[in-house]
Amino acid sequence: MALEAAIRPETAAFLVEPIQGEAGIVVPPVGYLRAVREICSRHNILMIADEVQTGLGRTGKLLACDHEAVKPDAPILGKALGGGLLPIPMFLARADVMAVFQPGDHGSTFGGNPLACAVARTALEILERDQLAQRAEELGSYLLARLGELRHPAIRAVRGRGLLIGLDLWPQWVSARSFCEELMRCGVLSKETHQSVVRLAPPLTITRAQVDQALGAIEAVLDTITSPQPSPTPVRGDALPA
Ligand SMILES: Cc1ncc(COP(=O)(O)O)c(C=O)c1O
Repeated sequence: MALEAAIRPETAAFLVEPIQGEAGIVVPPVGYLRAVREICSRHNILMIADEVQTGLGRTGKLLACDHEAVKPDAPILGKALGGGLLPIPMFLARADVMAVFQPGDHGSTFGGNPLACAVARTALEILERDQLAQRAEELGSYLLARLGELRHPAIRAVRGRGLLIGLDLWPQWVSARSFCEELMRCGVLSKETHQSVVRLAPPLTITRAQVDQALGAIEAVLDTITSPQPSPTPVRGDALPA
Protein backbone atom coordinates (compact mmCIF):
# COMPACT_ATOMS: atom_id res chain seq x y z
CA MET A 1 0.00 0.00 0.00
CA ALA A 2 1.25 3.53 -0.82
CA LEU A 3 0.74 4.47 2.83
CA GLU A 4 3.45 2.10 4.02
CA ALA A 5 5.93 3.45 1.46
CA ALA A 6 5.21 7.04 2.54
CA ILE A 7 5.94 6.50 6.24
CA ARG A 8 9.15 8.16 7.46
CA PRO A 9 10.76 8.08 10.93
CA GLU A 10 9.18 11.48 11.66
CA THR A 11 5.66 10.44 10.58
CA ALA A 12 3.25 10.96 13.47
CA ALA A 13 -0.15 10.16 12.00
CA PHE A 14 -2.17 9.21 8.96
CA LEU A 15 -5.34 11.21 8.46
CA VAL A 16 -7.94 9.55 6.26
CA GLU A 17 -11.56 9.99 5.27
CA PRO A 18 -13.21 6.53 5.39
CA ILE A 19 -15.20 7.64 2.33
CA GLN A 20 -13.84 10.68 0.51
CA GLY A 21 -16.64 13.22 0.35
CA GLU A 22 -15.37 16.30 -1.45
CA ALA A 23 -13.31 14.13 -3.80
CA GLY A 24 -16.54 12.68 -5.24
CA ILE A 25 -17.88 10.04 -2.80
CA VAL A 26 -14.96 7.68 -3.25
CA VAL A 27 -15.60 4.42 -1.37
CA PRO A 28 -12.41 2.44 -0.69
CA PRO A 29 -12.27 -1.30 -1.42
CA VAL A 30 -13.37 -3.64 1.38
CA GLY A 31 -10.44 -4.22 3.73
CA TYR A 32 -8.76 -0.86 3.08
CA LEU A 33 -9.49 0.60 6.52
CA ARG A 34 -8.44 -2.61 8.24
CA ALA A 35 -5.15 -2.52 6.33
CA VAL A 36 -4.63 1.13 7.31
CA ARG A 37 -5.26 0.25 10.95
CA GLU A 38 -2.75 -2.57 10.82
CA ILE A 39 -0.05 -0.46 9.15
CA CYS A 40 -0.55 2.44 11.58
CA SER A 41 -0.34 0.11 14.59
CA ARG A 42 2.74 -1.64 13.24
CA HIS A 43 4.58 1.67 12.67
CA ASN A 44 3.25 3.22 15.88
CA ILE A 45 1.58 6.15 14.11
CA LEU A 46 -1.88 7.48 14.86
CA MET A 47 -4.78 6.60 12.59
CA ILE A 48 -6.93 9.73 12.50
CA ALA A 49 -10.30 9.28 10.78
CA ASP A 50 -11.92 12.40 9.43
CA GLU A 51 -15.56 11.43 9.89
CA VAL A 52 -16.87 14.97 9.48
CA GLN A 53 -18.96 13.91 6.47
CA THR A 54 -19.28 10.19 7.11
CA GLY A 55 -19.78 10.16 10.87
CA LEU A 56 -22.80 9.99 13.13
CA GLY A 57 -24.98 7.56 11.27
CA ARG A 58 -24.73 8.91 7.74
CA THR A 59 -23.26 5.77 6.19
CA GLY A 60 -25.46 3.39 8.19
CA LYS A 61 -23.19 2.98 11.22
CA LEU A 62 -22.28 5.46 13.93
CA LEU A 63 -18.83 5.86 12.33
CA ALA A 64 -17.94 4.73 8.81
CA CYS A 65 -14.91 2.92 10.32
CA ASP A 66 -17.43 0.67 12.13
CA HIS A 67 -18.21 -1.04 8.81
CA GLU A 68 -14.82 -2.74 9.11
CA ALA A 69 -14.85 -2.92 12.91
CA VAL A 70 -11.85 -0.60 12.89
CA LYS A 71 -11.17 1.73 15.80
CA PRO A 72 -9.20 4.81 14.80
CA ASP A 73 -6.97 6.42 17.45
CA ALA A 74 -8.79 9.68 16.89
CA PRO A 75 -11.99 10.33 14.99
CA ILE A 76 -12.84 13.89 13.93
CA LEU A 77 -16.52 14.82 13.93
CA GLY A 78 -18.48 17.88 12.91
CA LYS A 79 -21.48 18.83 10.82
CA ALA A 80 -24.19 16.44 12.12
CA LEU A 81 -22.85 16.83 15.64
CA GLY A 82 -24.51 20.24 15.74
CA GLY A 83 -27.86 18.70 14.84
CA GLY A 84 -28.07 21.05 11.86
CA LEU A 85 -28.39 23.94 14.32
CA LEU A 86 -25.07 25.07 15.71
CA PRO A 87 -21.53 24.67 14.38
CA ILE A 88 -19.45 22.29 16.50
CA PRO A 89 -16.48 20.20 15.39
CA MET A 90 -14.78 17.69 17.67
CA PHE A 91 -11.46 15.84 17.94
CA LEU A 92 -11.71 12.71 20.08
CA ALA A 93 -8.84 10.60 21.29
CA ARG A 94 -7.61 8.36 24.06
CA ALA A 95 -6.29 9.98 27.21
CA ASP A 96 -2.65 9.23 26.36
CA VAL A 97 -3.01 10.98 22.99
CA MET A 98 -4.83 13.99 24.42
CA ALA A 99 -2.26 14.23 27.23
CA VAL A 100 0.28 15.38 24.63
CA PHE A 101 -1.47 18.76 24.70
CA GLN A 102 -0.50 20.96 27.59
CA PRO A 103 -2.56 23.94 28.75
CA GLY A 104 -1.88 26.79 26.34
CA ASP A 105 -0.73 24.57 23.45
CA HIS A 106 -3.95 25.00 21.56
CA GLY A 107 -6.47 27.81 21.80
CA SER A 108 -9.90 28.33 20.30
CA THR A 109 -12.29 31.20 21.03
CA PHE A 110 -15.42 29.08 20.81
CA GLY A 111 -13.92 25.65 21.57
CA GLY A 112 -16.08 23.78 24.09
CA ASN A 113 -18.86 26.37 23.76
CA PRO A 114 -21.47 25.28 26.36
CA LEU A 115 -24.52 25.94 24.17
CA ALA A 116 -23.02 24.08 21.20
CA CYS A 117 -22.04 21.19 23.51
CA ALA A 118 -25.61 21.00 24.87
CA VAL A 119 -26.97 20.90 21.32
CA ALA A 120 -24.44 18.19 20.39
CA ARG A 121 -25.44 16.03 23.36
CA THR A 122 -29.10 16.28 22.39
CA ALA A 123 -28.28 15.56 18.73
CA LEU A 124 -26.45 12.38 19.83
CA GLU A 125 -29.38 11.34 22.04
CA ILE A 126 -31.84 11.79 19.17
CA LEU A 127 -29.54 9.91 16.80
CA GLU A 128 -29.70 6.93 19.13
CA ARG A 129 -33.35 7.31 20.19
CA ASP A 130 -34.61 7.45 16.60
CA GLN A 131 -32.12 4.86 15.31
CA LEU A 132 -31.05 7.21 12.56
CA ALA A 133 -28.03 5.13 11.55
CA GLN A 134 -30.30 2.16 10.86
CA ARG A 135 -32.64 4.43 8.95
CA ALA A 136 -29.71 5.68 6.84
CA GLU A 137 -28.73 2.08 6.14
CA GLU A 138 -32.24 1.09 5.01
CA LEU A 139 -33.19 4.17 3.04
CA GLY A 140 -29.68 4.56 1.63
CA SER A 141 -29.63 0.97 0.34
CA TYR A 142 -33.01 1.56 -1.25
CA LEU A 143 -31.92 4.85 -2.87
CA LEU A 144 -28.64 3.37 -4.11
CA ALA A 145 -30.44 0.35 -5.60
CA ARG A 146 -33.05 2.51 -7.34
CA LEU A 147 -30.38 4.85 -8.73
CA GLY A 148 -28.45 1.80 -9.93
CA GLU A 149 -31.48 0.72 -11.95
CA LEU A 150 -31.58 3.99 -13.89
CA ARG A 151 -30.48 3.48 -17.46
CA HIS A 152 -29.32 6.73 -18.97
CA PRO A 153 -26.19 7.34 -21.05
CA ALA A 154 -25.31 10.44 -18.97
CA ILE A 155 -24.74 8.26 -15.88
CA ARG A 156 -21.15 7.08 -15.45
CA ALA A 157 -21.52 5.45 -12.01
CA VAL A 158 -23.55 5.42 -8.84
CA ARG A 159 -21.77 4.75 -5.55
CA GLY A 160 -21.95 5.41 -1.85
CA ARG A 161 -22.91 4.00 1.49
CA GLY A 162 -26.01 4.70 3.56
CA LEU A 163 -27.30 8.19 2.85
CA LEU A 164 -24.05 9.44 1.32
CA ILE A 165 -24.39 8.78 -2.37
CA GLY A 166 -22.67 10.09 -5.48
CA LEU A 167 -24.26 10.16 -8.91
CA ASP A 168 -21.31 10.38 -11.28
CA LEU A 169 -22.23 11.93 -14.63
CA TRP A 170 -20.36 12.03 -17.92
CA PRO A 171 -19.29 15.66 -18.28
CA GLN A 172 -19.85 15.46 -22.06
CA TRP A 173 -23.56 15.06 -21.31
CA VAL A 174 -24.14 17.39 -18.38
CA SER A 175 -22.17 19.15 -15.67
CA ALA A 176 -22.95 18.13 -12.10
CA ARG A 177 -23.50 21.79 -11.25
CA SER A 178 -26.24 22.31 -13.82
CA PHE A 179 -27.80 18.97 -12.82
CA CYS A 180 -27.95 20.14 -9.18
CA GLU A 181 -29.50 23.43 -10.27
CA GLU A 182 -32.19 21.59 -12.23
CA LEU A 183 -32.84 19.35 -9.22
CA MET A 184 -33.18 22.45 -7.06
CA ARG A 185 -35.91 23.73 -9.40
CA CYS A 186 -37.70 20.44 -8.72
CA GLY A 187 -37.41 20.99 -4.96
CA VAL A 188 -34.43 18.68 -4.31
CA LEU A 189 -31.26 20.14 -2.81
CA SER A 190 -27.95 18.45 -3.61
CA LYS A 191 -24.39 19.63 -4.09
CA GLU A 192 -21.86 18.79 -6.75
CA THR A 193 -18.33 17.71 -5.91
CA HIS A 194 -15.69 18.11 -8.57
CA GLN A 195 -17.34 18.67 -11.92
CA SER A 196 -19.08 15.40 -12.45
CA VAL A 197 -20.51 14.08 -9.19
CA VAL A 198 -23.89 14.98 -7.73
CA ARG A 199 -23.65 14.37 -3.98
CA LEU A 200 -26.85 13.22 -2.32
CA ALA A 201 -26.67 13.61 1.46
CA PRO A 202 -30.21 14.20 2.69
CA PRO A 203 -31.15 14.64 6.35
CA LEU A 204 -31.16 11.27 8.13
CA THR A 205 -34.79 11.97 9.07
CA ILE A 206 -35.87 11.78 5.41
CA THR A 207 -38.92 9.61 4.76
CA ARG A 208 -39.31 6.87 2.16
CA ALA A 209 -41.91 9.04 0.38
CA GLN A 210 -39.40 11.91 0.18
CA VAL A 211 -36.74 9.54 -1.21
CA ASP A 212 -39.24 8.49 -3.89
CA GLN A 213 -39.99 12.14 -4.61
CA ALA A 214 -36.26 12.83 -5.06
CA LEU A 215 -35.94 9.80 -7.35
CA GLY A 216 -38.83 11.16 -9.43
CA ALA A 217 -37.06 14.51 -9.71
CA ILE A 218 -33.77 12.87 -10.72
CA GLU A 219 -35.56 10.88 -13.42
CA ALA A 220 -37.35 14.02 -14.63
CA VAL A 221 -34.05 15.92 -14.94
CA LEU A 222 -32.41 12.96 -16.70
CA ASP A 223 -35.31 12.90 -19.17
CA THR A 224 -34.44 16.44 -20.25
CA ILE A 225 -30.89 15.36 -21.19
CA THR A 226 -31.20 13.80 -24.61
CA SER A 227 -27.75 14.16 -26.17
CA PRO A 228 -24.15 15.00 -25.29
CA GLN A 229 -23.28 18.68 -25.22
CA PRO A 230 -21.30 19.90 -28.21
CA SER A 231 -17.66 20.43 -27.19
CA PRO A 232 -16.74 24.07 -26.80
CA THR A 233 -15.36 25.61 -30.01
CA PRO A 234 -11.56 25.51 -29.79
CA VAL A 235 -9.99 28.94 -29.63
CA ARG A 236 -6.67 29.86 -31.21
CA GLY A 237 -3.86 28.47 -29.10
CA ASP A 238 -5.94 25.56 -27.79
CA ALA A 239 -4.88 23.21 -30.58
CA LEU A 240 -2.49 20.47 -29.58
CA PRO A 241 0.78 20.35 -31.46
CA ALA A 242 0.63 17.93 -34.40
C1 LIG B 1 -14.33 15.75 5.37
C2 LIG B 1 -14.31 17.10 6.01
N1 LIG B 1 -13.42 17.35 6.98
C3 LIG B 1 -13.37 18.54 7.61
C4 LIG B 1 -14.22 19.56 7.25
C5 LIG B 1 -14.13 20.86 7.98
O1 LIG B 1 -15.11 20.89 8.96
P1 LIG B 1 -15.50 22.29 9.65
O2 LIG B 1 -16.16 23.10 8.56
O3 LIG B 1 -16.44 21.92 10.74
O4 LIG B 1 -14.25 22.91 10.13
C6 LIG B 1 -15.15 19.37 6.25
C7 LIG B 1 -16.07 20.45 5.88
O5 LIG B 1 -16.79 20.39 4.90
C8 LIG B 1 -15.20 18.10 5.61
O6 LIG B 1 -16.09 17.84 4.64
